[in-house]
Amino acid sequence: MHHFNYREGVLHCEDVPLREIALEVGTPCYVYSYSTLIRHFRVMDEAFSAIPHLVCFAVKANSNIAVLKALAKEGSGMDVVSGGELFRALRAGVDPERIVFAGVGKTAQEMEYALRVGILMFNVESDQELETLEEVACRLKIKAPVALRVNPDVDPKTHPYISTGLKKSKFGIAIEEIVEEYETAARLPCIQVRGVHCHIGSQITQVAPFVEALGKVLGLVDRLRGLGLDISYVDMGGGLGIQYKDESPPPPAELASAIRPLLEGRGLTLILEPGRVIAGNAGILLTKVLYLKKGRVKRFVVVDAAMNDLARPSLYGAYHAILPVEERAAGAMVADVVGPICESGDFLAQDRELPELKQGDLLAVMSAGAYGFTMSSNYNSRPRVAEVLVSGDRFWVVRERERYEDLVRGERIPRFLLSEQSS
Ligand code: LLP
Repeated sequence: MHHFNYREGVLHCEDVPLREIALEVGTPCYVYSYSTLIRHFRVMDEAFSAIPHLVCFAVKANSNIAVLKALAKEGSGMDVVSGGELFRALRAGVDPERIVFAGVGKTAQEMEYALRVGILMFNVESDQELETLEEVACRLKIKAPVALRVNPDVDPKTHPYISTGLKKSKFGIAIEEIVEEYETAARLPCIQVRGVHCHIGSQITQVAPFVEALGKVLGLVDRLRGLGLDISYVDMGGGLGIQYKDESPPPPAELASAIRPLLEGRGLTLILEPGRVIAGNAGILLTKVLYLKKGRVKRFVVVDAAMNDLARPSLYGAYHAILPVEERAAGAMVADVVGPICESGDFLAQDRELPELKQGDLLAVMSAGAYGFTMSSNYNSRPRVAEVLVSGDRFWVVRERERYEDLVRGERIPRFLLSEQSS
């Protein structure tokens, strides 16, 4: 469910015609629907209302501080994976006690930052990371709250780049070895064991892998409690998929009814780290047709957005629906939708059925609210695009389009290059 619909033949975000945004803000730009974001958060939150839980939005999916603020006002916590994401979450006013910190490569500096602000817990991914955290925490005379991330060896049946819970993956600690690691953690004076963390992958479209992983996690919780460890949180990560094309992922309520019975009466608080399911269909990338080009064997629609703005098609071969802002039936032509970047991999769609298009037409690249702007770059020295938030019949630029000056910010020409002589 989202709030991007045609009204009288014109695609709107909530009550705002997208062409109005294109006129005022220019293209390309990301457009987010506030009502959709909030609705998705509430659906997730309410699905689990019968058990103690905390929804921590995965900041990596969409880290704009207006988006984070909107979710924080609904009571969302945040899942962060870097000092930068922690900074954003705090800037958006998120209570540090609702923040969890994951990732295989946290630096001592990032640990110190998170310890000083008092986050809910670190999701620790290796023995060396645990040692470093212990050192940093002891130095600060703080007890670091932790969960260890277990790699349960469960196949989430998704794209290999976004599967994280298999034996061969860099994430987490193998389930066979983790009890020992917990025993070590429990002996460390500046570590406070709080929970178990697990995240098996992203864009998962079935309930079964979650149930399988939770089963293994709960088995682990029982063993750890048997050893006298105080486990009060189970963090199941994110991963619930969305519809990009014809997938039919389970709605949050279905996931909740499958896993709730396993958790009831266990004295555990469930943490969830959804990213895509909250932000994915709450945003689009608005772009304009620059040129129509006929190759020898293919037609191309050259648009002003490129792989640096939305990397998912090039990186994962991901499908994003592309709709004309002025409604027209698809099928008039088959073409690749490509950007201006100097790479053959720069496409937003390949062999796509599209309506007949002309120069200047506006297109909406759908389902781009998660892992869209956050994965964008300045490749080919393209300024990063503006982000716009819509609520009802109003909209706000929540991130300005970068200017050329932003591209060289922080760069310097060393003195020797400025001297007249070239030697
Ligand atoms: N928690 C952890 C520890 C994660 O690693 C991730 C995503 C999430 C939560 C949120 O997962 P979600 O609910 O969004 O599936 N760039 C890729 C997705 C990478 C996901 C990485 N981790 C894409 O565009 O498909």
